[in-house]
Amino acid sequence: MAGRARDAGAALRKVRDAYLEERVPLAGFTTWRTGGPARYLLTVNTRQSLIDSLRVLQDAGVPLMVLGNGSNVLVSDAGWNGAVMRLKESLASVEVGGGGLDAGGGALLGAAVSKALRASLSGLEFALGIPGTVGGAVMTNAGTFAGSTAASLESVDAVDRSGELLTLEEFEDVYRGPLVAGDLIVAGARFGLTPEDGASIKSRMEEVRSRREGSQPLAAATAGSVFKNPPGEAAGRLLDQCGLKGRTVGGASVSDVHANFIINSGGASSAEVKTLMDVMAREVERAFDVRLEAEVRLVGFEEES
Ligand code: EPU
Repeated sequence: MAGRARDAGAALRKVRDAYLEERVPLAGFTTWRTGGPARYLLTVNTRQSLIDSLRVLQDAGVPLMVLGNGSNVLVSDAGWNGAVMRLKESLASVEVGGGGLDAGGGALLGAAVSKALRASLSGLEFALGIPGTVGGAVMTNAGTFAGSTAASLESVDAVDRSGELLTLEEFEDVYRGPLVAGDLIVAGARFGLTPEDGASIKSRMEEVRSRREGSQPLAAATAGSVFKNPPGEAAGRLLDQCGLKGRTVGGASVSDVHANFIINSGGASSAEVKTLMDVMAREVERAFDVRLEAEVRLVGFEEES
């Protein structure tokens, strides 16, 4: 944290509809089940509490990150000396109307997918089984072979670090990159969907499910794909060809099912996951002269992404 950052605890505790905890280990909030404590863990339940909290953090010079579902992040064992924010309640709602779907940034993508299906609206089938939040999906353009977040995104309500609310309507469909400026916080998103009979929507979902079930270790503690696919290639294939499946560092192993997934098979530290990531990247670079770029976000490490 910046040396000039002040203790923001007292002011954060006064924010309405927000709940502050301090020095909470993040291992309980990440799908890898690793990670040390956050200085502040702040749960905000309304747009106003989001805005008020941002103003307090900005005034105190405390750095902020939004955690989402913690499904694409590696937090160092030392933790993070800033504020980690979680968006809940009215910031995690999902509503269907006007031929589309409105979701809070903290809503689980899965909740949006099933509400769209129940309303016979097509456009989110691609996201079946992606464990993240809507905000996380906007910040990473989450996707599968069946589509990406950008394709059905109509608008995003975002808040900047000073608490200003903006509505954005133009998005570039970048591969696994943010659809809005990286320092914005996604308060909500609207997806434009198309009416279609439930059976067709369901059968596309089944295809997504069966392809992922066959090729990914879905039941294990992972963060999904560790590295982005390099242009024209699949990171998983390169890692597999290096013989990395099953490679283990402490409690962290490369999945035997998909070589771009790291499993915490019990008691792994983030340092072990990171060491294994470095081994994987090094071996691919040595064998193929390709530099893999992390897809997971590194938090509290010297090299952050
Ligand atoms: N492959 C191997 N060995 C492996 C894994 C994959 O040879 O161990 C080969 C496959 O046979 C295939 C190719 O690599 O020919 C691509 O594999 P796959 O179809 O599993 O897709 P992917 O490119 O590895 C991407 C996304 C996933 C998404 C799937 C399914 C990235 C980095 N990953 O994986 O997204 O679920 O497609 O659509 O783009 C994520 O981003 O976290 C994620 C899981």
